[in-house]
Amino acid sequence: MTAKLFTPYKLNDSITLNNKILMAPLTRCMADDDLVPTAAMAEYYARRAEAGLIISEAVIIRPDGQGYPNTPGLFTPAQIDGWRKVNDAVHAKGGKIFAQLWHTGRVAHSHFFGGEIIAPSAVAIEGTVPRMRELAYETPKAVSVEEIAQLVKDYSQAAANAIDAGFDGVEIHGANAYLIDQFLHHDSNRRSDEYGQTPENMARFPLAVVDAICERIGNERTALRVSPGAYVNMKGDSRDRQVFDYFLKQLELRDLAYLHIGIFDDALEFDYLDGTASSYTRAHYNKTLVGVGSYSAESGAAAIENNQFDLLAIGRPFIANPDYVERVRDNQPLVAYSDEMLASLV
Ligand SMILES: Cc1cc2nc3c(=O)[nH]c(=O)nc-3n(C[C@H](O)[C@H](O)[C@H](O)COP(=O)(O)O)c2cc1C
Repeated sequence: MTAKLFTPYKLNDSITLNNKILMAPLTRCMADDDLVPTAAMAEYYARRAEAGLIISEAVIIRPDGQGYPNTPGLFTPAQIDGWRKVNDAVHAKGGKIFAQLWHTGRVAHSHFFGGEIIAPSAVAIEGTVPRMRELAYETPKAVSVEEIAQLVKDYSQAAANAIDAGFDGVEIHGANAYLIDQFLHHDSNRRSDEYGQTPENMARFPLAVVDAICERIGNERTALRVSPGAYVNMKGDSRDRQVFDYFLKQLELRDLAYLHIGIFDDALEFDYLDGTASSYTRAHYNKTLVGVGSYSAESGAAAIENNQFDLLAIGRPFIANPDYVERVRDNQPLVAYSDEMLASLV
């Protein structure tokens, strides 16, 4: 049943993956206090190099993108050097790795960088920063048109830095209610200018980031993660459907390396999507699609067989099993994931 996962997959003329199992991006909060990846992180990723593609934990593109402690960056020379060591270690084991480029928007906290929080609109999320319960979320400032242009430049620079650091490509984090996703949903985007209200306007900034990065490093090394279904830090709105209908059509024209769905459980049905995140996305996007969300190797292989998506990303089981790929291939039992495992980098 899972044998199909172990055949190579050609993303494009530049990149062929050894197998169809991707390591999903997993934030671990283990960078040093300058947000530089450590030697332990290099070992952690190298242990997982058998994945067809590792997608790095989300990496912040600039200081005001930070929403959690010790998340790595890709905007200082030391951070670029730190990632180069990670990438060298992964490549030495025959693996491939993309950097996930991140700005948390209104999920940022000034505690980490001492400045203003930016977002499409001045609408705060409720609650407190995970792992730091004393920090309540703050009301962001609605980002100006000039600041949006600067953000596009900063994403593009981070992509260039990723290539400089030896990553094989980048996955733009457009999912899970962070900055790019905040533009795509009505709950967080209340703008009345050319970045709000209509599908074309709401997709304008996300597409500008995609296009700037494609131009800078090549579309064959550029991927994107999206969450058409709002499920975390965001309320769904039936009007979001038209935004994603438009956005996905535009993305299909771009010839990205792949499109990746951002969801924790792909069994979840969304009224306004008429189904699951993957069934909706597949119906509106005909190129390489990565599925994720509480799949086992068996259920993921069955989903690929049924043409729900082309590649399978695995998250939590990869934390519990550094040798996940080998275990699945050899039919060995898996260690069950538990949240306590997040305390150390094994
Ligand atoms: C500890 C943890 C950290 C995560 N960090 C990220 C992240 O940095 N970027 C991202 O897009 N998704 C992140 N996710 C979501 C995963 O990529 C994945 O979508 C989710 O865990 C569902 O897949 P799974 O059921 O195979 O774990 C994280 C999930 C967990 C459990």
